[in-house]
Amino acid sequence: MIYVIVSLVALFVFLFNSKKNNFRKIYIFFKTLKRDLSLVRILICMVIQFALYQKRQDTVPKLFSKLVSKNSKRNAIYFEEETWTFQEVENFSNKIANFFKSKGYKRGDVVALFMENRPEYVCVWLGLSKIGVITALVNNNLVGDPLLHSISAVQPKCIIYGSALKDVIKNSSDAIPNTKLYQLSGRNEKSELLEEAENLNVKLDQESDASPTEEIRKGKLRDKLLYIYTSGTTGLPKAAIISNGRFLMVATGLPAMTKLTKEDVMYNSLPLYHSTGAMLCLSHCLITGGPIALRKKFSASNFWKDCNKYKCTVALYIGEICRYLLVHHTNDNTLIHHSVKKLVGSGLRPQIWKEFVSKFNIKQVFEIYGSTEGNVNMMNLDNTPGAVGYFPVWLKFVHSMSLIKCNMETAEPIRGSDGFYQACQPGEPGLFIGKISLNKIIGQFLGYVNKEASEKKLLRNVFKPGDVFFNSGDILVQDELGYFYFRDRTGDTFRWKGENVATSEVEAVISNILNLRDAVVYGVEVPGTEGRAGMAAVVDKDKTLDLQKFGQSLKSNLPAYSIPLFLRIIESVELTGTFKLKKTTLRQEGFNIEKIQDKLYMFDAKNITYAELTEDIYDDIMTGKVRL
Ligand SMILES: *[C@@H]1O[C@H](CO)[C@@H](O)[C@H](O)[C@H]1NC(C)=O
Ligand SMILES: *[C@@H]1O[C@H](CO)[C@@H](O)[C@H](O)[C@H]1NC(C)=O
Ligand SMILES: *[C@@H]1O[C@H](CO)[C@@H](O)[C@H](O)[C@H]1NC(C)=O
Repeated sequence: MIYVIVSLVALFVFLFNSKKNNFRKIYIFFKTLKRDLSLVRILICMVIQFALYQKRQDTVPKLFSKLVSKNSKRNAIYFEEETWTFQEVENFSNKIANFFKSKGYKRGDVVALFMENRPEYVCVWLGLSKIGVITALVNNNLVGDPLLHSISAVQPKCIIYGSALKDVIKNSSDAIPNTKLYQLSGRNEKSELLEEAENLNVKLDQESDASPTEEIRKGKLRDKLLYIYTSGTTGLPKAAIISNGRFLMVATGLPAMTKLTKEDVMYNSLPLYHSTGAMLCLSHCLITGGPIALRKKFSASNFWKDCNKYKCTVALYIGEICRYLLVHHTNDNTLIHHSVKKLVGSGLRPQIWKEFVSKFNIKQVFEIYGSTEGNVNMMNLDNTPGAVGYFPVWLKFVHSMSLIKCNMETAEPIRGSDGFYQACQPGEPGLFIGKISLNKIIGQFLGYVNKEASEKKLLRNVFKPGDVFFNSGDILVQDELGYFYFRDRTGDTFRWKGENVATSEVEAVISNILNLRDAVVYGVEVPGTEGRAGMAAVVDKDKTLDLQKFGQSLKSNLPAYSIPLFLRIIESVELTGTFKLKKTTLRQEGFNIEKIQDKLYMFDAKNITYAELTEDIYDDIMTGKVRL
């Protein structure tokens, strides 16, 4: 009955709002009706569930404690040969909470966590959240300046780091003088302690594992929970604010949309400092109560073996993972044994979608579109190959997510003659934007720790005076059925090996190394790879650039995925208003040896230097003989 009413209202709204009431529209309406009704049902469930959280002022630690009381003996986390029950996660995180409380840490204080994937990672931030302390999840690939930048951006009271990363911390400890260091080792990890640091394991052994119930009770839905770094599409990495509410939003949406339950074992080889790992994986464990299997780093040869070992029924992915798996198993014609039915993640491209699901026998792929800091997210719920989600066509007029006309090179939105931005037609690519409503939790944009950075991501007076939208910086296209497809990420960042690379950050590092020499960094497309490979164009008029030294300096100042793969020596860079234009030309020419007269080099990761890009190597890259 309710469906009939909703359908009729929807049809009415749709016809009323379309300028031309033609038959095509009615046909589309009925074709997508079932899909849209199921989405409406899911959204209603989510809204009810979320309203309940809001009413009770639930937080992640509150819900987790409740979960533990009913599931104490069940397994929560698998990692290598370790198995952690829910009670063990609870007790370890209680110790963390009690220890830092005894050290005088208060609600709203910040702690930086710098650690590889392991069960303790989860316990640390969960424990800190119990006493209202915010954990900043620092990318554990970082070294040198980018690491210092990430840490200083959030001004933490202390840094908790994993023993495995002690050398990186040691190299930077002079530059972070007034911040306390705590070193934490895994259960089976033996490691020397840094002189500057305290041994957190020893401290925790002496600490009580009783739950800090009083502190937990003080928590509110709007309290900040985590800082997750994102390079977004503009400038240096920024710490995006994740509140308890934002986390619970994901925790509500994931099971509602994918029908995952606590019986599902989830495999995660993605880093826990990224939003996919931090929110999708951990909300499944901490809120839904499903076991998770963690891996330190993704490995193509162990992916299905691991899934099999831990009897996983769902796995998280990013596009690169899918491609590496396909490449790894190219010559494998036998059936790969595993129990994974569902995949959840983002970046599985239309070009390999069908091949991937049939080769690995995956029943359903839930492709997600969204960003850590963005306020609109969507998910492909009906297995439509290549789509990143959909939005009912008949609800288009609410503009909660829209595509607007923009300059395709710069993603600069274009205003129409009436002074407002213009919505795209079906099939027309445009800039994806999401409406920000300040009074609702859904559609809220919490922004970054840095206020100025937040303002940069906003578009004002979009469709009518005073409205505000979040600018995703992404180019998408929507078909007439309402499915969205990803086109391109523009602006100052590109993705490589599953990580966002901020061009300005790499440019800053190069400029430092080369005594302020001019350099521009951009991403170039390489056949058969996801995202874009980094390329730097460096001015070297007097031919004094020492390639070996340059390569080594880059290596000690940048994570591996940020080091420009290609290097182009140029005469000059136009730093004026045409700067952007120049970059566009460079990006288009890429590393095309046939077009470019300038000297081209490629990063040699073994010798840590740049070696000349020869025609043979170029051909091998283009034909896929060399895998990048
Ligand atoms: C630490 O710095 C030294 C000297 O700059 C360098 O050789 C070494 O590779 C660095 N180690 C790490 C782990 O970054
Ligand atoms: C967890 O802590 C409680 C309360 O301190 C204790 O009774 C229990 O034995 C602990 N359980 C484990 C598995 O450590
Ligand atoms: C790089 O290392 C390889 C061996 O791994 C060696 O054959 C080659 O000559 C080296 N190249 C340079 C430029 O040092």
